[in-house]
Order: sequence, then structure tokens, then C-alpha cells
Amino acid sequence: MTTHTLFETLNPPQRLLMGPGPINAYPRVHQAISQSLIGQYDPVMTGYMTQVQSLYRGVFHTENQQTMLVDGTARSGIEAVLVSVLKPGDKVLIPIIGRFGHLLCEIAERVGAVVRTIEIEWGEVCPAELVEKEIKAFGPKLLATVQGDTSTTMNQPLKEFGELCQKYDVLFYCDATASIAGNELKVDEWHLDAVSAGLQKCLGGPSGSAPITLSDHCAEVINRRKHVEAGIKADHHQNGSDEIIRSNYFDLAMIMDYWGPERLNHHTEATSMLYAARECARLFLEEGADEVISRHKTAGDAMARGLQAMGLELFGNPNYKMNNVVGVYIPQQVDGDKVRQELLNSFGIEIGTSFGPLHGKIWRIGTMGYNARQEAVLTTLAALEAILVRNKAKIIQGQAVIAAMEYYA
Ligand SMILES: Cc1ncc(COP(=O)(O)O)c(C=O)c1O
Repeated sequence: MTTHTLFETLNPPQRLLMGPGPINAYPRVHQAISQSLIGQYDPVMTGYMTQVQSLYRGVFHTENQQTMLVDGTARSGIEAVLVSVLKPGDKVLIPIIGRFGHLLCEIAERVGAVVRTIEIEWGEVCPAELVEKEIKAFGPKLLATVQGDTSTTMNQPLKEFGELCQKYDVLFYCDATASIAGNELKVDEWHLDAVSAGLQKCLGGPSGSAPITLSDHCAEVINRRKHVEAGIKADHHQNGSDEIIRSNYFDLAMIMDYWGPERLNHHTEATSMLYAARECARLFLEEGADEVISRHKTAGDAMARGLQAMGLELFGNPNYKMNNVVGVYIPQQVDGDKVRQELLNSFGIEIGTSFGPLHGKIWRIGTMGYNARQEAVLTTLAALEAILVRNKAKIIQGQAVIAAMEYYA
């Protein structure tokens, strides 16, 4: 008989998560997740689903009826939008400012779309004039972009893109996973047709739920591809006239029906994650959008000032820096991974490494959600300074925490 090792009772260490996400969730989100499970058609549960739709209209600054959760990490929201909007052969224009722009291309290519990119040097954002030129030359169905690309810490301005999409009748999608709730995002005002997000950054929850919102026009485009599953199809259900969506799980036409008045079954809603998403939105709206964004800006600026006071150099164009994460060059002669490891081992603090062309060159330090707080900023600066001194980095000592405190004062 095989004996199975039980391992120990789960007891993860206490960490202060100051990377580019995930972050420590708000305590109230933990409480929400631990609430009792109920059935997916219990009127209490469907009531919570309706509440979540209303709460996320507030978070997204939108009147969009079609506002809901996709069950999965932020990437599932991206994939759901792209596979539901884009048919094979459809044209999509993607400005790439970092790793997650490449992810949009990768998904769009798998869908069979014809992808045209505008590649921007990491650390910069894409000018609207370039987008206009490419829209005119290429005539895309969809413009897809990332707002805050955590890989470079840059925040792509969206307002002008939205105006161009209006002018040229192009659908406009943005991945706001890393920027939502820490930076301004006005879905209706900026003419966005589809936006997807995640909880694990400025919304202050765990990863595993992807809030999304779709304009009426975008919902209509997707519903033209509607195909109701044979096992649940009734006489009154009408399939759309357009080509079927090439994913079942990410079929937003079916997901809209599940969240709609008929509650037509699709997947089993991830109850505990819905509780988490609901609490994240409540926390955001209770504190107030402007207040939360300004708290992120203050924490991000204080962190940046502290790092500069240490003599460290910041990465990227400061005019477009996301409020909630900063890239900082690893000082010369210092092993970046060793410093991160020592921070984790000695202080229980996690900061981020980086990808692609920036790997080994910068660290990324986040101040998001529950961790966009003065104590978290000061503790991280103090700890990083101590580790850098131990690693014989040539930095200015004794100034970082004071600079951040003065900024807060
Ligand atoms: C901008 C952006 N998009 C998408 C993702 C992917 O999110 P997930 O890992 O939750 O699928 C991330 C994660 O860091 C992100 O920063």
C-alpha cells in the first residue's frame, strides 16, 4: 500500500509584498474569502453577482450593463476579450510598450487574428500620432493596448487613443490589470469598448478573478457570435449569425448570459473569488476613487524620493510613470538577485525582478492596494538600504527614510 506524505499544515510566512504584484490583500478581503459557500442559483448568490456588477461599474467609471467577472487570473480576462471579439482573419493593432503588450499579440495570434504592432522602446509610451498613422494604413477592427505595463512601470495615456477609435470606428480594448485603482481610468469618458483587470495589484485582493466591462457596441459584436450549448439550449434561444467563438470557457456571449437575467448556466461561479472581488470594489468605492488613486501616488512618489535620496537612479520616462510601481537601476557591482533574496530572508520583504531587456538591470518596487501605506514604504526603504550597505553598494546612507518621511509630512 502506498503511504502518502501529508506534509505540514499550511502555514505560509508573513511577507511584505512590495513587488509589482501580487501584493498583500486587504484584511477585509481575507475575511470575505473565508465566508460560507452557497449554491450558484441561491438568490443570495445571484444577488451578490448583481451587486458585483454594480460595484464594478463604479470601479471602471462606466454605465456599461455588461460588467462582470471572468473566473481566472487577469490573463483570463484578456483572453476572453480577445477570443470573443476577434475572429480568425480580423485585424488588430497593438502598440507594445512592454511585456504585456507582447502577451496581447501572442493571444491575438493564437486566435488567428492579423496582428500589426507598434513597438516602443521599453521605458516610453506610444504617441497617439503613431496610432493614428497605423489605423489609417491598416484599418483594424480592434486597437488593443495595455494601460500600466508593470514590466516597464509606464502608464500609457488612453484618452487620445479613445478619440482616434471613435473617429475611425475601431473597437478599443485595454488591459488595466496593473493600473486600475492606482491610476485614473475612465472607461466611458475615454471611449473604451472593453477593459479587463485583475485583483492582485491596486485593488488589493488575491489573483484569480478578472473584472471586465464591455460597451453596448462591443457586447453586440460579441453576441453576433453567440452559440448556446446544446445541452442547455431551449426553443427561445437564438444563435448569432456570425462565426462561433473559438473557446468555450472564454466565450463572453455565454458568460454574459450567465450574468444576465436568464442566468443561463455556463461555468460554476467561483464563489470565494466573487466574495473577494466584491470586497475589493467595496473598499475602493468606500475610500473614494480619487482618494485611493492619490494614496497610490503619494506612496509611489515617497518610494521614488527615498530611492533617489539613496543615490539610486530611476528607470523610464518620469512623465509616464505608473503611480503604483517604480523601476530602479540595480547599482553597479551589486548582484540584484542576491539583494532580493537577502531582503526576503532577513526582512520578509519581496521586491520584483524584471523581464526581457531589463532583466538584471532594474528592480521593480510596488506600493499597491493595502501596501500603498507609509509604514510599508518606510520599512522597505530602511531594509533595502541595510542590505545594500551590507553588499557594499556605493549609496548615500541615512537619507532614504527621511526623504520619504518628509514627503509624507
Ligand atoms: C499589465 C498586466 N497584465 C496582465 C497580467 C497577468 O496577470 P495574471 O498573472 O493575473 O494572469 C499582469 C500581471 O502581472 C500585468 O501586470
